Amino acid sequence: MRILIKNGTVVRSTGRKKADVLVKDGRIEKIAPAIEENADRVIDASDCYVFAGFIDTHTHFDLDLGTTVTADDFETGTKAAVVGGTTTVLDFATQDHGMTMHDALDLWHKKADGRSSSNYGFHMAVSEWNDARKAEVDDMFKAGISSFKMYMVYDAMKVSDGQIYDAQKFIGARGGVIGVHCENYDVLQARIAEEKAKGHMDPTAHPVTRPQAVEAEGVARLMRIAELSKAPAWVVHLSTADGLEEVKRARKRGIEVYAESCPQYFTLDVKQYAEPDGAKYVMSPPLREAGDRAAILDGMKKKDIDFIGTDHCSFTMAQKAMGKDDFSKIPNGGAGVQNRAELVYTYAVETGAITLEQMALLLSERAAKLFGMYPKKGVLRVGADADIVVFDPNDPHTISWETNLHACDNSPYEGIKASGRTRDVILNGELVVENGQLVKPNCGRYVFRKPCIRYRS
Ligand code: URP
Ligand code: ZN
Ligand code: ZN
Repeated sequence: MRILIKNGTVVRSTGRKKADVLVKDGRIEKIAPAIEENADRVIDASDCYVFAGFIDTHTHFDLDLGTTVTADDFETGTKAAVVGGTTTVLDFATQDHGMTMHDALDLWHKKADGRSSSNYGFHMAVSEWNDARKAEVDDMFKAGISSFKMYMVYDAMKVSDGQIYDAQKFIGARGGVIGVHCENYDVLQARIAEEKAKGHMDPTAHPVTRPQAVEAEGVARLMRIAELSKAPAWVVHLSTADGLEEVKRARKRGIEVYAESCPQYFTLDVKQYAEPDGAKYVMSPPLREAGDRAAILDGMKKKDIDFIGTDHCSFTMAQKAMGKDDFSKIPNGGAGVQNRAELVYTYAVETGAITLEQMALLLSERAAKLFGMYPKKGVLRVGADADIVVFDPNDPHTISWETNLHACDNSPYEGIKASGRTRDVILNGELVVENGQLVKPNCGRYVFRKPCIRYRS
């Protein structure tokens, strides 16, 4: 199968140029001006940008919280992903208590294999850290997993600081990295009790229990743990100006830290919890304030933020109603996997906060590097995997859950006007999205990942 993309502007982190791109047998064969070769399909990308396929570093598909299961599984979640330009999702395979990492990996393959419309890899989220789990880590690398996750919060997942320290040393020495959900568990539990004692039970209490300092303390603590373990650290879903300051201070002390943020932290506002459907915004960390949004955008501009994931973790409004009388019982998370590129373009590129080249860096290249997929993925170059996005910057539209392909009946981005969007997607050398429509579902493949490329070391 040969596909020729003509007349587009090819965007890489190093610059942009008018060029045609020829794809053959799943790889990029040629990038040059005015390619005149036969192809099975010719795509006219005039007035469009051509990017390496986007990588979402943070999704939760088919995740069982114990109380309920996410609305999106791999079938629906990856359809939404690929239509939005995400050619690879990195989902959190989750080792719950009583499971081994091997169990979790087998389970996640069963959830994803043969049902995915984007490529997919797994981070391994661990709820226990002991000799038995450590004995499994080398097998995880052999199975293509070089990134892990630990939580400072959630009763079912929380590990101790000592466990994070030991795991960082152990996994860092093997070429891996651990993403950590940074919040102060004890303080937020105390604040939940305070709010309930005041009779404050609706979603507006959620951000009150988890103010900026709850995150910033967790980030600062992680930075000190990494200083002691001498291993790389990855802060997931960073949401605050104060948290970002802790990352920058740590870097000045020589700590190797990678920072991920998400569109909800530079587009949405804490006041939205007061809306009638405020439960849909209940996620952790919560939505923030204008100063935090400005700081996250500034971090994207100054390359302090490494990449943008979505933390897609969707629930229907019926599921969110589990907490209608008690905000702390609302399942945490929101939908966003389809909307990441258009939100980054609209809120960051079009406003002049970042360049198109930085968009390529934030949505693809740096994730491909840290998560062991570069240079097969993350950059448009000859020989790379043909995962390619044709992005139309002039396609104004209103985001709505009704037109999104995700499976839940709400979107935190409902009603937002985006100025451009993904038009066509080539996945593994095949045209799977054409004019915004998924024309070839289920073409996703498992991405076997190598050790991290630690570009900040
Ligand atoms: O609220 C969120 N973010 N839910 C998903 C799990 C996590 O914390 O990443
Ligand atoms: Zn988290
Ligand atoms: Zn998450």
